[in-house]
Amino acid sequence: MPKVYLDNAATTAVRPEAITTMTEVLQNEYGNPSSTHNIGQSSKAILEQCRKDIAQLFNAHPGEIIFTSGGTEADNLVLRGAVRDLGVQVLITSPIEHHAVLHTAEALAEEYNITLELLNIDQSGAIDLAHLEALLEKYQGQKILVSLMHVNNEIGVILPLKQVAQMCKTYGALMHSDTVQSIGHYPLDFKEVPVDFAAVAAHKFHGPKGVGFAFIRRGTGLNPMILGGGQERGMRAGTEPVYAVAGMTTALKHAYEHLDKEAAYVLSLKKRFIDGLAELPGVRLNGACGDLANSTYTLVNVGLPIDAAQSAMLLFQLDLKGVACSQGSACQSGSSGGSHVLQALDKVGVPMMPSLRFSFSMFNTPEDIDFALACLKELLEASR
Ligand SMILES: Cc1ncc(COP(=O)(O)O)c(C=O)c1O
Repeated sequence: MPKVYLDNAATTAVRPEAITTMTEVLQNEYGNPSSTHNIGQSSKAILEQCRKDIAQLFNAHPGEIIFTSGGTEADNLVLRGAVRDLGVQVLITSPIEHHAVLHTAEALAEEYNITLELLNIDQSGAIDLAHLEALLEKYQGQKILVSLMHVNNEIGVILPLKQVAQMCKTYGALMHSDTVQSIGHYPLDFKEVPVDFAAVAAHKFHGPKGVGFAFIRRGTGLNPMILGGGQERGMRAGTEPVYAVAGMTTALKHAYEHLDKEAAYVLSLKKRFIDGLAELPGVRLNGACGDLANSTYTLVNVGLPIDAAQSAMLLFQLDLKGVACSQGSACQSGSSGGSHVLQALDKVGVPMMPSLRFSFSMFNTPEDIDFALACLKELLEASR
């Protein structure tokens, strides 16, 4: 059976170079990086070299990189820490954030009785920046945290991160960005883009699962969320998975070394997919994902002219044919309400349709795209 993996926004295949690094570290560097003997210190040296290498890629200071178990933990570390330790009274975010941010924000609003504001979006999913500015003005004098994702994982819309971070700075607000879908796919310079915090996950850029990092700008004064030992400069207790951090670092270095070439290639696959969709009557591109200037090159979200039951069946039938895609974010597949991102678009006049997300990587081929399109066409015709 063919194996056509078009669910790269859920997770990616690991780069062979990262696998080589991890195997070497697993075999040879088993020391606990907190141990004082040579074997432990050898692991520590790898960990600290990774931190330096990662910091350098983003023009950050090594001390600003805190290794975590992935994006969800990094989002929680930042949001919880900002409310608990920095006295945030107003949290401004959007209805199309990943649940790692949205559910945390909702929980914090209850636990700490802070004000939670959700920004307006337009029909492409773009954040209403005038609304953001109005709220920053309204709450001036209170401690504000803005949390907005750089690239949306379901509809691909891109936030003008630098502009938003500068706006937050102007109003004295803290800014966090969930950059899980953008790091490894877009360059980011933390000296130029004045965010205070960011969240990253290795498995979205051909690194291993279960590892990522939080960028925490120096001097922000956050305390740890997970208590225990003094690892990660006291910011995140728990023995570091040195092999996974090393694999993530290799994946990230390769991602940026080959970024232009790989991004152009993946964009060509997205264009090929969109061109092919034009031959399927009644399909629609959701949000900004058809707008190549304002959406990520890695995904499309396709509204289908069928009902919800047929769409679930279509996903299953595509899988039977060897095509892996998803009904939105992997973490909400199985939930009954459907995508909260498409629901948010529905509220601004884009009627919700049963939809599938196809997301691409450098490991896909033009033949994968053509095969997926042919399967989609056949199955859609059969469901009429
Ligand atoms: C935008 C976004 N944020 C956060 C996460 C969660 O990251 P992780 O799976 O590493 O916890 C994901 C992963 O699906 C994501 O796409």
